[in-house]
Amino acid sequence: MLPSARFLICLSLLLPLAAVAGDGEASPDAERLDAERLETLLYQDCGSCHGMTLRGGLGPALPRDRMQALSPKALTHIIRHGIPGTAMPGWEALLSEAEARWIADHLQTDNRLTSLDD
Ligand code: HEC
Repeated sequence: MLPSARFLICLSLLLPLAAVAGDGEASPDAERLDAERLETLLYQDCGSCHGMTLRGGLGPALPRDRMQALSPKALTHIIRHGIPGTAMPGWEALLSEAEARWIADHLQTDNRLTSLDD
């Protein structure tokens, strides 16, 4: 039980780093992400449905521990393409792949809401 939990934690820490490095090579724009703009978008625009503190509203709460259950790739996909058939919209028009990945990483590592148990 314990080793596999540790393995998952390692994976969740390493994968986003690998992804960021990869994006940097693939797209020159990845280096110039405007973190402040992306953070504002997350807590205000996403927050209009998920709550300004991400504790949930029309959309479910997005705490760090819950976000870590998804792979960075899956999370980026949800952000870019939304969840068809639900109120979760796709953000493709506003967010590049690298920007969506930044938000996915932020949700998993820097998210102001660590857990709903806080
Ligand atoms: C118009 C309302 C709305 C906005 C704006 C919105 N979402 Fe959502 N989101 C939803 C709803 C509703 C769901 C749940 C869909 C379902 O029933 O599975 C959801 C689901 C999600 C999920 C999956 C959660 C899980 O636990 O499975 C993630 C991640 C997510 N949204 C992130 C974002 C991010 C990041 C943004 C901003 C870029 C955003 N959302 C903006 C309504 C919204």
